[in-house]
Amino acid sequence: MPESITIIDNRTGNQLEIPIAHGGVAASGWQKLLPGIWFYDPGFTATAACESDITYLDGDQGILRYRGYPIEELAERSTYLEVAYLLLNGELPTAEQYDAWRHEVTYHTYIHENVRKRFLEGFHYDAHPMGMLVSAVAALSTFYLDAKDIFDPDSRSRQIIRLIAKMPTLAAAAHRFSVGMPFVYPDNSLDFCANFLSMMWKVAEPRFDANPTLARALDILFILHADHEQNCSTTAMRVVGSSHADPYSCCAAACAALYGPRHGGANEAVIRMLTDIGSLDNVPAFVESVKQGHGRLQGFGHRVYKSYDPRAKIIKRTADEVFSITGKNPLLDIALKLEEIALNDEYFTSRRLYPNVDFYSGLIYQAMGFPLEMFPVLFAIPRTAGWLAHWQELLDQDTKISRPRQLYVGPESRPYVPMSDR
Ligand code: CMC
Repeated sequence: MPESITIIDNRTGNQLEIPIAHGGVAASGWQKLLPGIWFYDPGFTATAACESDITYLDGDQGILRYRGYPIEELAERSTYLEVAYLLLNGELPTAEQYDAWRHEVTYHTYIHENVRKRFLEGFHYDAHPMGMLVSAVAALSTFYLDAKDIFDPDSRSRQIIRLIAKMPTLAAAAHRFSVGMPFVYPDNSLDFCANFLSMMWKVAEPRFDANPTLARALDILFILHADHEQNCSTTAMRVVGSSHADPYSCCAAACAALYGPRHGGANEAVIRMLTDIGSLDNVPAFVESVKQGHGRLQGFGHRVYKSYDPRAKIIKRTADEVFSITGKNPLLDIALKLEEIALNDEYFTSRRLYPNVDFYSGLIYQAMGFPLEMFPVLFAIPRTAGWLAHWQELLDQDTKISRPRQLYVGPESRPYVPMSDR
């Protein structure tokens, strides 16, 4: 069977043979054969915008792999910092490489004093920490002018280390400011997650030692969130990166994309939804109202996963470990009931809507004491590794600037009407 598609152009009667490559049709071939004919694909549901060897997803079978390694194995045996190295470098580090990487990240956790004092403390007292994070990440580009040298390998790797290392510091600083607590400096004797928890929760004690089960649970959540191929925020990163903007500006754009409730804001929306439902008795009526078109079941459905989200399975297990320390999140029973009803309801099964990563992650974050506003911020910290891996790949591929077409549906040419005649 030839790997191609035959199209007859009824305008000319010409028969065209279009080759299929990697399960799709390359636009370059298509454009030559049918100039001026565009694909109309809002939401890019049928468009592959790049080649990538970072993350593999099979939405029908519920498979997720980073650089070929199954997410289940990484969540079980790896750490977030090791996964970040893997995403960025393509291979797991040797012990020596890992020590050097961990050292670099640990010693770049400090932020310039002016980022905190002049910039972050200039926000209104009730500023959303995600809004603060988006702006602070963009502001970093004004502190590291060498970031513009995106084709200098040394500069590039310096900015990557800075971004990965400083995200937890910026995130915790945004939280401390929003609750009126003093900023906590990074503790370089702690590992990545324990240091973040120290910056979040330390009060007057000389050293904050996070509960190891909770620090590990956070590390697992960070592994699960580290990358997810061409999601909305990664696409934002790649689109802005394609203009050759510096990595801080690109990451700020990606953070902004992550902020929305359809993407990284979904875990916050899940908790609000479960709180609104309020009790087990209200669950059936709530599901019914979703089916009638009143809102969506937050934390359900995915553009790619149409059987189950493998991350949701791992998170459910992690939730049990966290609740054994923190006590059960009172919203858990409502979540379980909601899941049970939805998974047995034709509306959800026929549309292949299953719990996604955000259905349970919010319950864990809430049980660990994070305020709702911090949930998207907690997503942004690890996703930075994925964003940067894609940014690097994009620059190495020397791709064209992202610039889609549009189908113009506005008025035809018309003469300007003076204001007095309107
Ligand atoms: N609750 C109820 N109905 C839904 C839901 C939902 N959560 N999601 C999709 N549908 C219905 C939708 O109404 C549509 O029905 P119909 O065919 O009758 O019009 C059908 O399912 C297909 O929906 P869609 O909007 O075309 O699907 P999409 O692939 O564009 O959207 C999604 C994917 C994740 C935006 C969507 O499922 C959603 O809004 N989910 C809730 C928000 C959420 O949990 N987001 C987190 C995604 S996972 C984390 C991440 O990667 O960011």
